[in-house]
This record gives sequence, C-alpha cells and structure tokens, in this order.
Amino acid sequence: MMDRLDTEIAETPVSGREAPEQATSAAPSRKVFVKTYGCQMNVYDSERMSDALSRDGYTATDSPEDADLVLINTCHIREKAAEKVYSQLGRLAKLKKRRQSEGSDFMVAVAGCVAQAEGQEITRRAPVVDVVIGPQTYHRLPDALAKARTGAKVVETDFPVEDKFTALPKAPEKVIRKRGVSAFLTVQEGCDKFCTFCVVPYTRGAETSRPVDAIVAEAERLAAAGVREVTLLGQNVNAWHGEGSDGREWGLGELLRRLAEIDGLERLRYTTSHPRDMDDGLIEAHRDLPELMPYLHLPVQAGSDRILKAMNRRHTADDYIRLVERIRQANPDLALSGDFIVGFPGETDEDFEDTMRLIETVGYAQAFSFKYSPRPGTPGADLGGHVDEAVKSERLDRLQALLYRQQRDFAERCVGREIDLLLEKPGREPGQLIGRSPWLQPVIVNAKPEEIGDIVKVRITKAGTNSLFADRV
Ligand code: 5AD
Ligand code: SF4
Repeated sequence: MMDRLDTEIAETPVSGREAPEQATSAAPSRKVFVKTYGCQMNVYDSERMSDALSRDGYTATDSPEDADLVLINTCHIREKAAEKVYSQLGRLAKLKKRRQSEGSDFMVAVAGCVAQAEGQEITRRAPVVDVVIGPQTYHRLPDALAKARTGAKVVETDFPVEDKFTALPKAPEKVIRKRGVSAFLTVQEGCDKFCTFCVVPYTRGAETSRPVDAIVAEAERLAAAGVREVTLLGQNVNAWHGEGSDGREWGLGELLRRLAEIDGLERLRYTTSHPRDMDDGLIEAHRDLPELMPYLHLPVQAGSDRILKAMNRRHTADDYIRLVERIRQANPDLALSGDFIVGFPGETDEDFEDTMRLIETVGYAQAFSFKYSPRPGTPGADLGGHVDEAVKSERLDRLQALLYRQQRDFAERCVGREIDLLLEKPGREPGQLIGRSPWLQPVIVNAKPEEIGDIVKVRITKAGTNSLFADRV
C-alpha cells in the first residue's frame, strides 16, 4: 500500500477479503462485498465491520453482482475520493434494480468519512443507499441494516458515548489467520490539531486513546493467530496516551515496549505521527527496541514557516529538522517518510523552494505528495490566494521528481545489505514470496509458500522500480 510515490492517498480495494468465512449457524446466509478507500484505518475498520456482519450470517464475496449487501468504506481527505464514491453509487443503482427484479433484498451501505461529512446528503443525492454510517457508529451497522430492511433510510453519524471497540465482536482465530501475518491495530482515533487543510478533526472527531488492556488483549489475540507484525494506527498515533500497568501515564513509547513483550510479535510499526507529539519516550523506543522497525512516517506538509503557520501546523521547518536529527541520533538506521501538500493558499514560488530545500536537507526514503484540495468547512478553504491548478501541477511534478530520486537513491543504498525479511504473501511468479524490508519496501525472494510468516535472512541484490530483489543467505 505504501510502496509508491503517489498523488492519491493509498487506495486499497480490499473487496471481499474481510468478511469471516464462518457465519453463525442461526443467522441466514448472506453475502457482502466490501470496497475500501483511503487510509490503513479504513482497512482496519472494514475488517471490524465485516466481523460485526458475520454475526448476521454475512460471508465475503469478491463480486458486487453476487452480493446481498455492498458496503463502501469511504475517504474524504481529498475531493476526488468523494466524487468517486458518487459515481460508484450511480453504477450500483442499476445493479440494485436488477437484483431487486430477481427478488433479492439487495442493500447498499456507505460508511467512513464521506458518510460522516455528508450524512443525509448521500441518501438525497444517491437514493440507492439504504444505510449511511459514520466511523464512530459502525458497531451499530447490523441494527441499521435491520431497520433499513423495513424500508427506512438509516443515517447514523453521531459520536456516541459507548466505545465501538467494546461493542464489536472479536475476529475468530481462523479469520485473523486468513488476513495474513501483518495486521493493523487501531490504538488512537481522531485529532485535535486542526491543520487548516484537513477534514479529519471533523470526520473522525476529537482525539481519543484506547486503553492499554484492550490494546494488549487485541495484540495477544493477533499474535496467537500467527500475526508477526502489528502496525498501530491512529490519525495522530503518537498522541496516544493511557494509564499503564504500573499506574503511571504511558505514552506510545511505553505502549510499544509492552507490546514488544508479547510472544510471537516480532515487528512493530505505527502511523501516522505529528512532529509535535514525538516525545522522548518514543524516540528512546526507536533507540532501544529491536522489534520497533526503523521507519517513521512523519509528515511535515511544507517547508516554509509562513505556510506552516497558515496551515496551523504548530512547528517551524527548523523544529522539524532538529527533531529529525534527534531521532536519527537515537537510531541512525531509521528511514523517514513524509506527506507534502503543494499549492496551499498563499504559497509563493519562494515558499515552494523552501519545501524543496527541506526535502534536500532531510532526505526521504518514501513520500506521499498532493496538490492542495480545498475541503468545505475547513479554514483553508476560506483563505484568499488560492494557487492556480497549473502552478500546483508544475510544483507537484518538481517535488515528486526530487522525492522519487531520493526514494531510488535509498533503494540503491540498500543493495548489498543483509536484512531480516518477514515473508508475507506469494509473489507474482511461482516459487517467489514477497515480504517487507524493515524500511517497508516490498522485497521479492525465492521461498516456499509454507514459509509465509517466517522471518528469514536475505541479502538485497537489486533495486527494481517499486520493489527490491533479494537472495537467501
Ligand atoms: N488537500 C491535499 N492534501 C491533503 N491532505 C490532507 N488534507 C488535504 C487537502 N485538503 C494530505 C496531507 C495528509 C495526508 C493524509 O493527506 O498531506 O498528511
Ligand atoms: Fe489532519 Fe493530521 Fe493535521 Fe490532524 S495532524 S488535522 S489528521 S493533517
């Protein structure tokens, strides 16, 4: 998912792979097709929704044609994503008509951040939709579907007091195994930072942290079902905090130390972090914990202090550069990844050159970069000085060329290195498996299917366009 330089947020169609195979025996048998857009947290949420639906007898299908329920988990971070949802709903309207004429009670549900932001507007613009459900209410999805079966349109977009994680069923071991040896685990949600370009504080709500016990229990279940790598998720994951088993307030660094003790969990990652929340405990974890992979996604967005201020980022370019120096002192092998926005309102050529200079100074192994897209309701959208689309495109091209060069250079520097590789899934060619390097690059190596889940020693032999090649040692 994070293996390319892209202008879009990672889009992950995970259709049909989430719903548990085994339905409860009492429930009628139904099929669900799940389509997931957006970030890793949406992938995680789709899995949780599938777990909830399995109680109602739903099993996964790869084809919407075959489904009784189509569930679209949406992303609202940039404009194009929402528009894509509406055009997909247009296509589903035809399918629904056909399925209904065949006697099916075919239903369509829209979940995620577009659901949260647009609410009722979705059922108005796309009458094909039966249920609209926000990211904080999706534990109520089975009830909402039951209500919709009586003919009502159901819109559930409040921020309920109950904790959805407590209300959701746990995935059975067999389902976890099927999902693979690397898993996501949400530990934090929402954001209080209010960057002026971003919808997240409005769609995902205020910052909340899940309690230590719940996180440890979920991680133990994952490990017991063969998961070797866990990526902790949060919109602002390094703002996570909670009461530790010693009664003290823990930060993410302490949580990672606790998770590293779990038998079978060999690798830990976390994403996405804000520079302001990179505290000493977390930096020390990068120094001390071999389980914590030497990779950090630390978005800076821009390199001009004027623009950073207008973005309400709460840090300067120099703060960021000094922070990166401290992190690299703690772990010199750490690779950095970032997010960049070009063409924020008021961005001049000079501001843009500051961003280019920051990239040169920091050096990124991986990056995601975007043209600024005004989001209704965010302060950025109301600012003057919107940048011409052609200028945005030209800046994005230059920025991506530089980032791509850095990514290539980093990959070339990996050639010859001996690394531990977690074998995750079959490669394109028979006899090959794909794993992730410690720095999250896909690595292709000759190995047998039964070795999936093993961590093996390999030497990187070649850097391809999007992946590395390696030999066993
Ligand atoms: N326009 C362009 N990019 C955006 N991002 C968030 N909001 C916007 C927007 N309005 C980018 C940021 C963020 C990433 C997930 O998406 O770079 O870090
Ligand atoms: Fe959005 Fe991240 Fe800023 Fe929060 S910290 S407002 S999620 S960009």
